Amino acid sequence: MSGISRREGLMIAAGMVLTACAGSGPSSATGTMTGPSPTPAPTPTSPTSPTASLNSAARARGMRFGSTYAWSTPGADRGSFANPPYAALLEADCGILVPENEMKWQFLRPSATAFDFTRPDAMIAYAESKGLAVRGHNLLWHQPKWMPAWAESHDYGPNPAIEGDRVLTEHIRTVCARYGAKIGSYDVVNEAVNPADASLYETALSRAIGGATATLDLAFHTARTAAPHAQLVYNDYMSWEPGNANHRAGVLRLLEGFRTRGTPVDALGVQSHLITQRADTAASVSTQQADWRRFLDQVVAMGYKLLITEFDVRDNNLPADIAARDRAVADYSRAYLDVMFAYPQLSDVLVWGMCDRYSWIEGFEPRSDGAKRRPCPYDSDFKPKPMRTAFAEAFAAAPART
Ligand code: XIL
Repeated sequence: MSGISRREGLMIAAGMVLTACAGSGPSSATGTMTGPSPTPAPTPTSPTSPTASLNSAARARGMRFGSTYAWSTPGADRGSFANPPYAALLEADCGILVPENEMKWQFLRPSATAFDFTRPDAMIAYAESKGLAVRGHNLLWHQPKWMPAWAESHDYGPNPAIEGDRVLTEHIRTVCARYGAKIGSYDVVNEAVNPADASLYETALSRAIGGATATLDLAFHTARTAAPHAQLVYNDYMSWEPGNANHRAGVLRLLEGFRTRGTPVDALGVQSHLITQRADTAASVSTQQADWRRFLDQVVAMGYKLLITEFDVRDNNLPADIAARDRAVADYSRAYLDVMFAYPQLSDVLVWGMCDRYSWIEGFEPRSDGAKRRPCPYDSDFKPKPMRTAFAEAFAAAPART
């Protein structure tokens, strides 16, 4: 449980940054969120890929590989499509992209009456120009700290259920209408389950509508009508590490409820923000794999598809030595991917950032020894790491999807 409370604390800290930058206007939002990298970017070069693209390795098994990406001004040192070395990684390895922050309410909807599509429009146009698919993240991040300040303090008036319904459905309809078939899969609801007690969070919006369950159902029904072509996903960070049992139970209960009530949810997005437990990865993963399979078995038995939506690894309890750390992270990743890839219900696999240089993890939870985090398949100089090989080998070993 200590891992969860620490994460919660850090999520609140990260939320304060996001909220602060959301209030500072669109032009400064992304810059405030990730902060500049400490060293200048190397001269853009093609990434050195030791094997074929990860997406072609995935495609050979009927799967897809992709990553998050950000918006920036051209050439800024960010994990952006407008930053040539980062774009080169996206174009070399990815078949599907997902905006990291730019489609969240705080960025897309600066007030109850205004939408600003400048950034996602540019990002989606880039993906289209490269023939890359796009996921939408997200239509509702169901926690007060991730809602924009205006939504939490909004006057829902004398008939709050009607105004709450209007605010939510207008949001979903407006986003889905703007992007139409350009977005084939949406995280309709993100992180609604409180891992502390497996309950559902409430927000000012959900209280207006009449409670979390009614709100989540409304979100999915609205998305189904507004984007009938799209895969509708419930996305959360319950994971396989010890301390996640409550969170997994809460997510299972939510998924069961969706089925009982006929709520149109197609898939569970498994964020996959992994955390290494010890240097000897083999010693920790066998129990984790067993617990994790029990969870996934129940999810797929209810008819849900699976996605890996936000893979990265926090290299906790590992030595600072880079070779040893990268090896342990790659082994841990491979053990996880092997379990996931065994499920034919899983076909899309996305990492939350291609290279360590721009990963959110460094700001979210730095290592206590001050060594820079190494959460991604490529390092801060855009060079492939053993984690990338782990992905390539896991795809090669995966059973083919039809
Ligand atoms: C993170 C972004 O990477 C950060 O830049 C931002 O400050 C906070 O959000 N789960 C999610 C993602 O669903 O949207 C989060 O992204 C990471 C955790």
